[in-house]
Amino acid sequence: MKANQKINRRQALRFGAGAALSPFFIPSRLLGDDAPSKQITMGFIGVGWMGEGNLDAFLKQRDCRVLAIADVDQLHLEKNVKKVNDRYHTKDCTPYKDFRELLARKDIDAVCISTPDHWHAIPAIAAAEAKKDIYCEKPLSHTFAEGVAMVDAVRRNHRIWQTGSWQRSVANFRQGTELVLNGYIGKIRRVEVGLPSGHSDFEHTGLQRGPFSQELALELQLRRRATDGLDRASRRHRPLGSFQHRVRRRTGRHHRPR
Ligand SMILES: NC(=O)c1ccc[n+]([C@@H]2O[C@H](COP(=O)([O-])OP(=O)(O)OC[C@H]3O[C@@H](n4cnc5c(N)ncnc54)[C@H](O)[C@@H]3O)[C@@H](O)[C@H]2O)c1
Repeated sequence: MKANQKINRRQALRFGAGAALSPFFIPSRLLGDDAPSKQITMGFIGVGWMGEGNLDAFLKQRDCRVLAIADVDQLHLEKNVKKVNDRYHTKDCTPYKDFRELLARKDIDAVCISTPDHWHAIPAIAAAEAKKDIYCEKPLSHTFAEGVAMVDAVRRNHRIWQTGSWQRSVANFRQGTELVLNGYIGKIRRVEVGLPSGHSDFEHTGLQRGPFSQELALELQLRRRATDGLDRASRRHRPLGSFQHRVRRRTGRHHRPR
C-alpha cells in the first residue's frame, strides 16, 4: 500500500515537472459558455411557425445545444432537424414523431414547447414529470384547469418555467415600461394599442408556407368537413343556442329529455 503511494506520488511529480516545462493549452471551447459541460441540452416539441423561430433563436445561444426535435408533421420535422445538423455540422439531432420518446431521454435538460395552444398542457406536464426545465409558448394554457395542473406539475417537480411572452422581457419593451413606471412621460391619461396584422393563417397553418405533409392535408380536409356546417351557421348569424336544435333537425335525431 505504502509502496504504491510512493510510486504514485513520484509519477505525479514527474508529470508535474513535465507539465511545468511544456506549455499546456486548454482549448477555450472547454472553458467558455459553449463548453460541453456547461451547455444546456435541449429538445424542441412543435416546430411550426413560432417553434422554428424559437429554434433559430436558441441555435444562436452558445450555451445551448439542441439534441432532438419532436413534431407530428413530417415536413416540419425534417426541415428543422436538417437546420440543426447544418448549424452544428453533425448528424446528431434526432427526430421524433412522438414527443414522449424525446422526453424519455435522460441527456436532455430542457424543452421548448411550441405546439398549438390546446397542446401546451399535455407535453408541458409530461416534461415536468420527466424533470425537464421548460420554455413554453404563450398562452400558458387553453383552459384555467389545465393552467393549474401545469403550475402544480412544475412546482412538484421543482422545474424552471418560462412562458414565451417575449414582449414582457425584450429590451425595448422593458425600457418603455421603466420610462412609464418612473414617470418620465408624466401621468398617463390614455393608452392606445395598435396590433400588427401578423400571421393570419392559424387555422390552415402550412398552406401559406408552400408544401405540407400528407398527414396535415388529411387533417385539414377532415377538419374542414367537420366544421363546414359550423361555418355556414355562423355566416348566417344565428344565435348560438339554436345550433343544437338545427343539428338535431338535420340529423333527424330529436332530443328526448331523460
Ligand atoms: N410568442 C409569440 O409571439 C407567438 C407568436 C405566434 C404564436 N405563438 C404561439 O406559439 C404556439 C404555436 O403557434 P404556431 O403559429 O407556431 O403554430 P403552428 O401550427 O405553425 O405550429 C405548431 C407545430 O406543432 C406541431 N404539433 C402539433 N401538435 C403536436 C404534438 N402533439 N406533438 C408534436 N408536435 C405537434 C405541428 O405539427 C406544428 O409543426 C401557439 O401556442 C401560439 O399561440 C406565440
